Amino acid sequence: MAKAPPVLTRLQNHSPKKAHKQHSMSPLCLSIFLLVTCVALFTLFQIQSLHTPPSSSSPWFLMHQWQKVTTSTQELTSMAEKLRQAVTFLPLKDLRYQEKALQGHTWFMSSMYDTREEGEVQYQQFPSQSSNGRLLCLKGRDTHDGSWNSYALAWPETLPFNATLLKGLTFVSYNHYNYDNIWHGLSAVVPFVAWHIRNECESPSRWILYHWGELRFKMGAWLRTLTEATFDGEPFIEGFEWANNSEPICFEKAVVMRHNEGGMSRVRRMETYDYMRCKARAYCNVSLEDARINNKGLPGIGLTLFMRTGPRSFRNESAVIGIFEKECAKVEGCKLMVAYSNNLTFCEQVKLMSLTDILASPHGAQLTNMFLMDRNSSVMEFFPKGWLKLAGVGQYVYHWIASWSGMKHQGAWRDPEGEPCPFPEDDRRCMSVYKGGKIGLNETYFSKWAKNVLNEVKTRKTVEVSNKSTASTSSCACS
Ligand SMILES: *[C@@H]1O[C@H](CO)[C@@H](O)[C@H](O)[C@H]1NC(C)=O
Ligand SMILES: *[C@@H]1O[C@H](CO)[C@@H](O)[C@H](O)[C@H]1NC(C)=O
Ligand SMILES: *[C@@H]1O[C@H](CO)[C@@H](O)[C@H](O)[C@H]1NC(C)=O
Ligand SMILES: *[C@@H]1O[C@H](CO)[C@@H](O)[C@H](O)[C@H]1NC(C)=O
Ligand SMILES: *[C@@H]1O[C@H](CO)[C@@H](O)[C@H](O)[C@H]1NC(C)=O
Ligand SMILES: *[C@@H]1O[C@H](CO)[C@@H](O)[C@H](O)[C@H]1NC(C)=O
Ligand SMILES: *[C@@H]1O[C@H](CO)[C@@H](O)[C@H](O)[C@H]1NC(C)=O
Ligand SMILES: *[C@@H]1O[C@H](CO)[C@@H](O)[C@H](O)[C@H]1NC(C)=O
Repeated sequence: MAKAPPVLTRLQNHSPKKAHKQHSMSPLCLSIFLLVTCVALFTLFQIQSLHTPPSSSSPWFLMHQWQKVTTSTQELTSMAEKLRQAVTFLPLKDLRYQEKALQGHTWFMSSMYDTREEGEVQYQQFPSQSSNGRLLCLKGRDTHDGSWNSYALAWPETLPFNATLLKGLTFVSYNHYNYDNIWHGLSAVVPFVAWHIRNECESPSRWILYHWGELRFKMGAWLRTLTEATFDGEPFIEGFEWANNSEPICFEKAVVMRHNEGGMSRVRRMETYDYMRCKARAYCNVSLEDARINNKGLPGIGLTLFMRTGPRSFRNESAVIGIFEKECAKVEGCKLMVAYSNNLTFCEQVKLMSLTDILASPHGAQLTNMFLMDRNSSVMEFFPKGWLKLAGVGQYVYHWIASWSGMKHQGAWRDPEGEPCPFPEDDRRCMSVYKGGKIGLNETYFSKWAKNVLNEVKTRKTVEVSNKSTASTSSCACS
C-alpha cells in the first residue's frame, strides 16, 4: 500500500462567534501576507512624503500618517476575512449540461476554462496565471451524485474557513467512463502522462478520481500497474476518509484533466505512448534483445493470437489457431504465440507485446495492449455479426489507438454469421444479442489475410535489420 502523503495545515477556525478570542491567533501565512502589504503601503507613503513640501513634515503630520497606516491594517484584516468568506463552492457536476455530456464534458467544473495550446493536451492548473494565483479547493465525497461534490478557487492567503491544505502535486481526473476497463482507464491517464513529459517528469503525490463528478477510489489492476510504471511509484488515490464532508480541502498545486486525449496532436499522442511503452518495459525488466533477430541473422516475427473467453471469443479456437499456424510456418522466423488476456499479469502482457509484431485478436479491451508493441507493428481485429451496423463509433477505438500509438491497423474481419435475433437485423434491440456473440471463421479469408500481413511485416523487418535500425532503443525522456 502507498503511504498517505502528509497533510500540511489545518487552518484555524475564524467563525464570527470566536473571532474575539482568535484574533491574535491568525494563521502565519495571513500575518505574513498582511505584513508584506503593510510594508508596501508604508513604503508608498514614505515615497509620497518625500514629494511633499518640507513645511508639512511636522510631528502632527507624522502622527497623521501613522493613524492612516493603522486604519489600513484593520481594513486589510477585515478585507481578508471577507475574502475567506467569499469563497463560493459550485457543484462539480453541472446538471444544466447533464444531457450534453458527450458534447464536451462541460458538466464537470463547468465554470472553468482549459489551457489550450495548438496540438497540446488541454488541462487546468492551479495556481496559475489564468487562476490569478488561486488554488483549487474541493468539498464532499459523494459516490452517487456528482452535484453533491463541489469546487471553488481561493487565494492561498485567504483560504476558506476550516480548510485543509494538501501539499505537493495533485492530479484530478475526470473520466466519463471508468477506471476499471483498461481502454477507458487508459484514456483518462494519457493526458496526465503528456503533462508529466512536458513538465520535467514531475509526478503526483496523489490522484483524485471522478466519474461524472462522483468520487472513485480504485483503478483496475492493469491501469494501476501501468500508472505505477509510468510515474515511478504506486499511485496514491485520495479517498478523503479522514476528511469532514462539509469542510474544504485545498491543494498546493493541482492539475485537472477532463478531455482525455482531446486536443493532442498525433505527434504528441505518439510521444506519450512511446513514453508509456518505454516505462512499462523498464518496469517489467523486458530485455529487448530477446528474439529480435534469430540465429541466422533474420528478423524474428512474432505473431500473437490474443484470445478472449466468453463473449467475443472464437467459436472454434483450435481451427483458428490451425489456420494461423499454417501461414506462420510458411514464413521463416515466424513464431506463433497463443495467449489469453484473462490470466496474464500486467508484466506478462508487456513482455508478450514486446515480442509481438502482429497482434490478431477479437474486438475487446485486451487490444488496448497494442501500444506496448514496437512502433509500426500490425493489428488484425475480429468482430462478431451485427457490430458494423449497430455498435456505433465506439467499435473503431482500436483503429484510433493504433493510429495514435504508431501501429498499423490491418483491418477487421466481420463475421457474416451469428446468433439469431428475433427482431429485424438492424433493429437496435439486436445489439444485446450480438454484443456477447461468438466469432466464427472463414479459412480462405483468414489464410490470405495472414499471408499478406506476414509478408509485409517480413519485408519491413528485413530492411530494419539490414540497416541496423534499432527501433526500440529510445530512452524514456522528459523535456
Ligand atoms: C469550523 O469548524 C468548527 C469545528 O468543527 C465548527 O464549529 C465551525 O462552525 C466551523 N466553521 C465554519 C465556518 O464552517
Ligand atoms: C464537520 O464540519 C462542520 C462544519 O465545520 C461541523 O459543524 C461538524 O461538527 C463537523 N463534523 C464532524 C464529525 O467533525
Ligand atoms: C526487475 O528487476 C529488479 C532488479 O533486478 C527487481 O527488483 C524487480 O523486482 C524486477 N521487476 C519485475 C517486475 O520483475
Ligand atoms: C473445429 O474445427 C476443427 C478443425 O477445422 C474441426 O475438426 C472441429 O470439428 C471443429 N469443432 C467444432 C466444435 O466445430
Ligand atoms: C489461461 O486461461 C485459458 C482460458 O481460460 C486456459 O485455457 C489456460 O490454461 C489458462 N492458463 C493458465 C496458465 O492458467
Ligand atoms: C470467405 O472469404 C472468401 C474470400 O474473401 C469469400 O470469397 C467467401 O465468400 C467467404 N465465404 C463465406 C462463407 O463467407
Ligand atoms: C536501408 O538501406 C537501404 C540501402 O542499404 C536504403 O535504400 C534504404 O533507404 C534504407 N532504409 C531506411 C529505412 O533507412
Ligand atoms: C515506421 O514506419 C515509418 C514509415 O514506414 C518509418 O518512417 C518509421 O521510421 C518507422 N518507425 C519506427 C520506429 O520504426
